[in-house]
Amino acid sequence: MMLTLPLLDAEEVRHARALLARAPWAEGRATAGAQAALAKNNEQLPADGDIQRELQQMVLRALDRSPRFLSAALPRKVFPPRFNRYAGDSNSFGMHVDGSIRYAEGGVRVRTDLSCTVFLSELEDYDGGELVIRDPGGSRRVKLPAGQAVLYEGTTLHEVAPVTRGARLASFFWVESMVRSAERRRLLLELDDALTALRQRHGEDASTVALVGTYHNLLRMWAET
Ligand code: NI
Repeated sequence: MMLTLPLLDAEEVRHARALLARAPWAEGRATAGAQAALAKNNEQLPADGDIQRELQQMVLRALDRSPRFLSAALPRKVFPPRFNRYAGDSNSFGMHVDGSIRYAEGGVRVRTDLSCTVFLSELEDYDGGELVIRDPGGSRRVKLPAGQAVLYEGTTLHEVAPVTRGARLASFFWVESMVRSAERRRLLLELDDALTALRQRHGEDASTVALVGTYHNLLRMWAET
């Protein structure tokens, strides 16, 4: 499953960019595992700064108010969002796979079922910088307007193509889902989408109420909380 969703509004994106313009960037390699470190050439905000803390809260609030994110990810834990910049000589992240478990502050472990990137730069402000996600059917190249996010399986090989002009700012994080299986998550999302459409067309009737029951019984069977 790969899906794109609107996440931050224009004001939030402007605010994020204003803060990131005066942020203390550091080498991104520091937080990569041994294999990913060889491919990683970008900059990141240090984990403990005030700017990062403020922007983390902003992204987490946006996730909480996004029904699409909640129904697709069925989040159990969200890794505190990080922020990166690709520009100048620090402009790419070669093909890699994300570590399966990420360690957040306070000893919290997050299994990386899903990866998410929130694009913060305007499309006209940089060239290159596509997120390339390898898929059995071929690679998919993702580059979205500022404020939009892409959610994709944490199991995939992926890379960020070199930025050849301007700067690409983004937030990225991982989600541990209540439903570990990607196949089950996809079925639940398809059922949820079909149900939403049915209820819009027919309102609440005995059939839609019964199907909502089926959705919740499947979720109850498959979810770990
Ligand atoms: Ni990655």
